[in-house]
Amino acid sequence: MKEIKLSVKASKKYSICSCGLSKSLPFCDNEHRDFNKINNTNYKSVKIFPSEDTELKLKSSNWESPVK
Ligand code: FES
Repeated sequence: MKEIKLSVKASKKYSICSCGLSKSLPFCDNEHRDFNKINNTNYKSVKIFPSEDTELKLKSSNWESPVK
């Protein structure tokens, strides 16, 4: 499964893609909105609000096989 390391800053908001359609992974670029309208699905980004500067390791099975 694809893993992306991400350095995050305290008190900054991050929107992480859960659908795999984003062209700027791991971030959500709102591609899920049109997909949801067409397919009657409810994909949303995962919001992260770090309490401290840190490094995250993120994984999603949809990043390698985006929803269709
Ligand atoms: S583009 Fe994938 S959740 Fe927004």
